[in-house]
Amino acid sequence: MTNKETILEELYKKRGSFVSGGELAKRLRVSRAAVWKSINSLRRAGYKIESAPREGYRLARVPDLLLPYEIKRELATKVLGKRIEHFREVGSTNDVAKELASQGAEEGTVVIAETQSGGKGRLGREWFSPRGGIWLSVILRPRLSPDEVPKVALMLGVAAAKALRGTGLDCYLKWPNDVLVRGRKVSGILTEMDAEMDKVNYIVAGVGINANNDVDDFPSEFRHSATTVKTELGREVSRVAVVINLLEELEKSYRFFTSGKFEIVLREWRDLARTIGKEVRILTHNKTIEGTALDIDGDGALLLQLKDGRVEKILSGDCIHLRENF
Ligand code: BTN
Repeated sequence: MTNKETILEELYKKRGSFVSGGELAKRLRVSRAAVWKSINSLRRAGYKIESAPREGYRLARVPDLLLPYEIKRELATKVLGKRIEHFREVGSTNDVAKELASQGAEEGTVVIAETQSGGKGRLGREWFSPRGGIWLSVILRPRLSPDEVPKVALMLGVAAAKALRGTGLDCYLKWPNDVLVRGRKVSGILTEMDAEMDKVNYIVAGVGINANNDVDDFPSEFRHSATTVKTELGREVSRVAVVINLLEELEKSYRFFTSGKFEIVLREWRDLARTIGKEVRILTHNKTIEGTALDIDGDGALLLQLKDGRVEKILSGDCIHLRENF
C-alpha cells in the first residue's frame, strides 16, 4: 500500500473522528511533515479532509470519482485492478493502456478516466464520454493466438452485462458484446491488441458504460439509440460498485477462459444474449448481409443463416436486430 492509501485506511477506520498526525506518522514511519504532504495530495485528488490543531485529520467527504483507493478497498480480485491509474480526463483510456502495456505494465492494470476527449468506439467511430459515465480499459496478457481474440470480446460482454444486471438493470447482450436495455445501448466494448503472427502480446479491453450521465446530453444522433443506467433506473448508481462488480465478473470469466473452460462463458453469453433466433442485419467492413442468427460457435463467431439457406460464419462486424419488440 502507498502512504496515501494507508492514511486513507486509517481515516476510514475512524470515520467521523480525528486521527492524530503523530499516530499516522508512527504507522507510516515517516515525519509529520510527510503525512501533511500526503494529506494535501489526497485533498488535491478530491478528498475533503479537515484538520484541527492538536486533534489531527478527519475524513469529511469522499468525492464522487472513480478513485483507485475507493475501488481497491472493496475489490476481491487477485489480478485485475491491482494497479489502477485514474485520470480526470484523457484522450482515450485504451490509448493510455496501450502505452502502459507497451512499456511492460502488468496484466490486470486498469486505466480509468472521468471523461475522455477522444473516446473511441468500434469500427472507427467516436465514443461520447462525458462526466458521470464509466470509461475504463484493462490490460490482459493471455497466451493466445490472434484468431482467438473474438472469444475475449464475448467474455467482456458477459462481464459487463452481469455487472450491470447487479444494479437491477434488465439488460441483455447483442452480438458480439453490446449491452442493451429496451433496444438501446448502455455499454460498449472495444478490444484492441498487439500481436505477432501466432501470438498475442497484449490485449487492451476498453469498456464504456453510460452510468450516471444523462441521455439529453448525448449528441442528437445517439439520443434514440443510446441510454444510461440512471435514465433506465430513475436513480443514480454507485459507479465505484459497478466498477468493482465489473472487474470481479471479468476476472471470473477470464479464469474460465484461461483454464480451458470457455464453454462456461459461452453458456453465460447465450443466456444473456437476445441475438440468437433473431432476424439480423450484419455490417462487416466490406458488406452488409441479412439472415437469421442461428448460434455462436466455439470461436465466438456468429453463425448466420442466409435467405438461400447457406450458413455463414461471421467473426466480426456490427449487428442490428431487425423487428425488435418491446
Ligand atoms: C463500441 O463502439 O461499442 C465500443 C465503445 C468502447 C468505449 C470504451 S470507453 C473506454 C475505452 N476507451 C475508449 O476510447 N473506448 C473504450
